[in-house]
Amino acid sequence: MSTDQQSGERATPTRSGLRPQDGVLVADDLRKEFGGLTAVDDLSFAVQEQEILGFIGPNGAGKSTTFNCITGFYKPTSGDVWFKGEDVTGLDSHRMVQKGMARTFQDFAPLSDRTVVRNVALSLAPDKLFTLAGVGGETRRLAEEICRRVGLGDQLHQTPSELPHAGMLKLELAKAIATNPDLMLVDEPFAGLSGNEVQELTEVLLSLRDNGMTLIVVDHNMRGLLNLIDRAFVIQFGAKIAEGSPDEITDDPKVQEAYLGGDEI
Ligand SMILES: Nc1ncnc2c1ncn2[C@@H]1O[C@H](COP(=O)(O)OP(=O)(O)OP(=O)(O)O)[C@@H](O)[C@H]1O
Ligand SMILES: [Mg+2]
Repeated sequence: MSTDQQSGERATPTRSGLRPQDGVLVADDLRKEFGGLTAVDDLSFAVQEQEILGFIGPNGAGKSTTFNCITGFYKPTSGDVWFKGEDVTGLDSHRMVQKGMARTFQDFAPLSDRTVVRNVALSLAPDKLFTLAGVGGETRRLAEEICRRVGLGDQLHQTPSELPHAGMLKLELAKAIATNPDLMLVDEPFAGLSGNEVQELTEVLLSLRDNGMTLIVVDHNMRGLLNLIDRAFVIQFGAKIAEGSPDEITDDPKVQEAYLGGDEI
C-alpha cells in the first residue's frame, strides 16, 4: 500500500487503489448496510471536473443510498469519500453544501405556501439572505436569474402546486443550483417527463456543465440519459456491474441481463 493511499484523516487501507486527487469526487470502497441488507456494496469511482457521470441501475439498486452516503445524509458503514482532495467522509449534509456539493431529491417537497422565486431564494447561501423586510434586492435578482436558467422565468410568482410536473423538477434543480455547487448530484431528473421535456432539461444540465459544474445523474432508465452523460456507472444490488461509454454499457451482456424482465435500458 502506498503512502498516498493512507492519506486523509482516516488511514483506512484502500482496496480500489484510487487516491484522493484522482477526481473532483472520489468514492473508495463505499459501503452502506441496513441491518442485514447491503444497499451499497463497496463501490469505488472517481468523477472528473466537468464530467457528467450517469449512475444507472434498476429500481432498488442502491443509487439514492449512494447519493445519501456521499452528500452526508447517511454515514457510510465503511469506505471513504474525498471531495476536491479532502476527506469528507461522514460530514453532515450542511457541511457538504458549504464545501460545494449539492443534490436534488427524488421525493422532494418545496414550500407550498411560497412562490417559486421565494423557494429558490431560500436555498441561496445564507450570507446572501434576508433583510428583516423580506428577500433583499440582490437575493431576489439572483433567485430570478436561476429560475430563468432552468426555464421557470415565466412562473416566478406561482406557487409550486400551480406548476406542472416538469416545473416541479426544474424547481428542485433550481434550489440545488442556488447553493452554488461545484458538484451536483441529480436524482432522477427525468422521471415522468415527455421526450421534449427530457430534451429541455438535458440542455439545462449541459449548460451547467459548460459553466464549470461537475454532475452525477441518476436514472433507472438509461435511454433518457444517453444524450447527456459522458460515462456510465451501472450498479445492481449495490455492486458495480459495468462502467464505460453509453455505447459500451448498452452492449454489455451483464447490463442487459440486469434489466431483463424489469425496467427498459
Ligand atoms: N433508510 C433505509 N432503511 C432500510 N433500507 C433502505 C433504506 N434506504 C434504502 N433502503 C434499501 O436499500 C436498497 C437500495 O435502495 P435505494 O433507494 O438506494 O435504491 P435506488 O437505486 O435509488 O432505487 P430507485 O430506482 O427505486 O430509486 C433497497 O433495497 C431499499 O429498500
Ligand atoms: Mg432512488
